[in-house]
Amino acid sequence: MKNCFHSTMINSNTLSLSKLLLFCSLFLLSQSLEFTYNGFNNSNLDLDLAGATIVKPSGALRLTNKSHHVIGHAFYPDPIPMFNNGPNASSFSTHFVFQIVPSSSNRGGYGLAFTLSPSPRFPDAEDGHYLGVFNPSNHGSSSNHIFMVEFDTVNGYNETSDKDGNHVGININGVNSSASKPASYYVEGTRAKEEEVNLEGEGPIQAWIEYDGLNKVINVTVFPLRVSKPPRPLMSESIDLSHVLVKNVYAGFSAATGHDSSSHYILGWSFRLNGNADPLDSSRLPVVPVEKPSSSNVKVKRALLATFSVGLFILLVALVGILFYRRVMRFEVLEDWELDCPHRFKYKDLYKATKGFKESEKIGVGGFGAVYRGVLPAIGAEVAVKKIISNNPLQGMREFAAEIESLGRLRHKNLVNLQGWCKNKNDLLLVYDYVPNGSLDSLLYKGGFLTWEQRFNILKGVASGLLYLHEEWDQVVIHRDVKSSNVLIDRDMKAKLGDFGLARLYDHGKNSHTTNVVGTIGYIAPELTRIGKASKMTDVFAYGILLLEVACGRAPVVHEMDQNVILVDWVVECMQKGNIFDAVDEKLDSMYVAEEMELVLGLGLLCSHPKPEVRPSMRQVLKYLNGDELLPLFDRLSSAGSRRLDEISSRLLALGLSGSISTTTWHQSVGTMSSSSFDSGRS
Ligand SMILES: *[C@@H]1O[C@H](CO)[C@@H](O)[C@H](O)[C@H]1NC(C)=O
Ligand SMILES: *[C@@H]1O[C@H](CO)[C@@H](O)[C@H](O)[C@H]1NC(C)=O
Ligand SMILES: *[C@@H]1O[C@H](CO)[C@@H](O)[C@H](O)[C@H]1NC(C)=O
Ligand SMILES: *[C@@H]1O[C@H](CO)[C@@H](O)[C@H](O)[C@H]1NC(C)=O
Ligand SMILES: *[C@@H]1O[C@H](CO)[C@@H](O)[C@H](O)[C@H]1NC(C)=O
Ligand SMILES: *[C@@H]1O[C@H](CO)[C@@H](O)[C@H](O)[C@H]1NC(C)=O
Repeated sequence: MKNCFHSTMINSNTLSLSKLLLFCSLFLLSQSLEFTYNGFNNSNLDLDLAGATIVKPSGALRLTNKSHHVIGHAFYPDPIPMFNNGPNASSFSTHFVFQIVPSSSNRGGYGLAFTLSPSPRFPDAEDGHYLGVFNPSNHGSSSNHIFMVEFDTVNGYNETSDKDGNHVGININGVNSSASKPASYYVEGTRAKEEEVNLEGEGPIQAWIEYDGLNKVINVTVFPLRVSKPPRPLMSESIDLSHVLVKNVYAGFSAATGHDSSSHYILGWSFRLNGNADPLDSSRLPVVPVEKPSSSNVKVKRALLATFSVGLFILLVALVGILFYRRVMRFEVLEDWELDCPHRFKYKDLYKATKGFKESEKIGVGGFGAVYRGVLPAIGAEVAVKKIISNNPLQGMREFAAEIESLGRLRHKNLVNLQGWCKNKNDLLLVYDYVPNGSLDSLLYKGGFLTWEQRFNILKGVASGLLYLHEEWDQVVIHRDVKSSNVLIDRDMKAKLGDFGLARLYDHGKNSHTTNVVGTIGYIAPELTRIGKASKMTDVFAYGILLLEVACGRAPVVHEMDQNVILVDWVVECMQKGNIFDAVDEKLDSMYVAEEMELVLGLGLLCSHPKPEVRPSMRQVLKYLNGDELLPLFDRLSSAGSRRLDEISSRLLALGLSGSISTTTWHQSVGTMSSSSFDSGRS
């Protein structure tokens, strides 16, 4: 931790008056107060903490815990002179990293706020919407002299003025935001493209608040820790703080919970008066402690045991013996390396969460095993637990754990986050976020209905999840099993891609002569069956099939009239007959945007092209879907006014995608497999 207070001292009275004046004005202009906390240190922390605020051993400052109706404050201890430059409030800049951990998935509250106020104490302040700063009688009064930037996860105090639950607001003297925006950031290089920030689900989030005292503009920028500072702020508002603040203000944070609750953490904070705050060093920031079900600490147990009398000890042994007998083999035998895996869960907790893997809690059966819904008792969070049963001891468990530990660090709004894992004898358990609306295939085929708008958004979501896996994380992750049943749909009908990277786990410890082709029939790229090596391009192929599947509402391979109808061939056939729209899902009943449909079908064919080198990268795919670039097949056609599909089809055919070629390749791939989902690398 670095904590510095810079001020300049003038200790000379021998200067001439003019020099002194010059020096003084320079001094006043440049007088800077600054401090930087890359994490917080319990032993010498000088911040003024109040309410529920504590410093966790990891160095994270926790403003509130998950109890209801609690308030937490943390303020810089010294007042900040805001009017040293004259009648106008000084410029300032602050950077901080926070993390909000909701008490149950997507149901946290209320929020935290960066606050400038005449005092670090708020007597009579209320929790909930009042954020631990205001109360119903003083809220809105200009005698408060409080400036606040709130990061809220529930609807604002005035539901109509802060519509979006997940929002950032600028509040003056009350909780009524004078300006607010859904939490998001601008993506560099793209035309005015905003990317949403999920304040409570996205891990650490950073914020910059910059006030220009000369032009009286306040800028607020909020973005995930994993990305660099966006090219422009989310909010840039003309606000004159000279009329709001008092001469000496206290800067800090306030957070509150209400009937919804979250733990609110600050991981680092820097501030500078009259200048740019030091950017925080993300490598030095603490991590939020994993809020797992409280686990009985082995050391504490040992210490306790030592203090007990021998008689009591014997009694305990007897008790443990009985327990052991009753829960035969539910105790875990840990190997050394398992002890330092932060994502490892206890089998006991998962067993409890899923009511002993009860049949009624089973929510699905996938290629790798059964999936159970569960509620982790200590935090009340819903999770999905995948149980992979193997008859033989899992090979290369250690490498496998390292891989899972690394997959567990992946965080993206279009991925089903892997929370952790657990090994029990030969079984492997993987713990994921629970996603309520089921999988895409069930919504497409099993009585569900999705509008075109929903379908298009789902496809875009899957594409950005895949792009993150392929290009935006520290390591390249090949999904290897992109298919509609691996796309889960959340409450807001957004797509979350699941099971990423899993297929690879079966490669460990396998005989190199076996081809480790893992995947699902209909989604396997032709070169994969030949070379047996998954790549980004084999993922793109499967994504292409998914595009066609969502547009046509048909599975990749349909068994009709005693033969297998291959979706790609069928779409190509419709195209050759001159009406590609014949392939569109009948359930949509022409309720779709024709240009988008053309784009999805065309892109689907391009991505599922038999030649990998013809397929676009996921980055390219996303550019097409967002309309930032035209699909190459379309570009010259659209300038002519209307797109002519027969021209598109002839171009596609010229690229080598003819019915006969693809049918042969398809039949080849189908011929080598017998079951509907296969994984020959598995023993
Ligand atoms: C806290 O700060 C003190 C003094 O700077 C230092 O000696 C100590 O190691 C720090 N502790 C942690 C946990 O960072
Ligand atoms: C949360 O903090 C409050 C105030 O410090 C305390 O009374 C309460 O017991 C804490 N709750 C938990 C679950 O730790
Ligand atoms: C204070 O602001 C006013 C109006 O915005 C401006 O005219 C004036 O020059 C400023 N004063 C100083 C000392 O910057
Ligand atoms: C809250 O804001 C609305 C407009 O958005 C305004 O009409 C109302 O008077 C404000 N309430 C207070 C207490 O400031
Ligand atoms: C909420 O905003 C509306 C107008 O947007 C205003 O009429 C109303 O008074 C506000 N409510 C409160 C409690 O401030
Ligand atoms: C605030 O944002 C605007 C727009 O991007 C920019 O021109 C201005 O320099 C920013 N001001 C500060 C103080 O960062």
